[in-house]
Amino acid sequence: MRSLRWTPENSVYVPEIDSQHQEMFRLAGELRQAVLESEKAERLALRARLLADCLAGHLTFEERLMRDAEYPSLEWHERQHRTARSKLAALRSSIEDAQRQSVFEAVESLAAWMRDHTAVADRMAGAYLRNHWRASACTIC
Ligand SMILES: [Fe+2]
Ligand SMILES: [Fe+2]
Repeated sequence: MRSLRWTPENSVYVPEIDSQHQEMFRLAGELRQAVLESEKAERLALRARLLADCLAGHLTFEERLMRDAEYPSLEWHERQHRTARSKLAALRSSIEDAQRQSVFEAVESLAAWMRDHTAVADRMAGAYLRNHWRASACTIC
């Protein structure tokens, strides 16, 4: 089972995005642990809702930053976000079905997406955003 801990190696060097990622990883890790400890279905549903709200807010936040900065790969990035939204929906329905194994698999699938997406797509977006903001603030360019 791979770790779900955010480390500085996961940084995209945009503080607000990094702190949202830390929260997402924390909530996903706690949910996974709760599944492993056979926490009650209502508690799992609450944890899943917290993660869903955090992640949904984060995806919207990133999309707004990228749109405002006219990020050229926005469409590609948004497609990846759509994948996360459907994984979240799968997580929610697995919790409604109350099948521990399928909840665990749904959390793992979402966690794998988070690791891959933050390591590649978000890092690329972070680099673009930093350059964009630097250039916008530059008064002699
Ligand atoms: Fe993203
Ligand atoms: Fe992100």
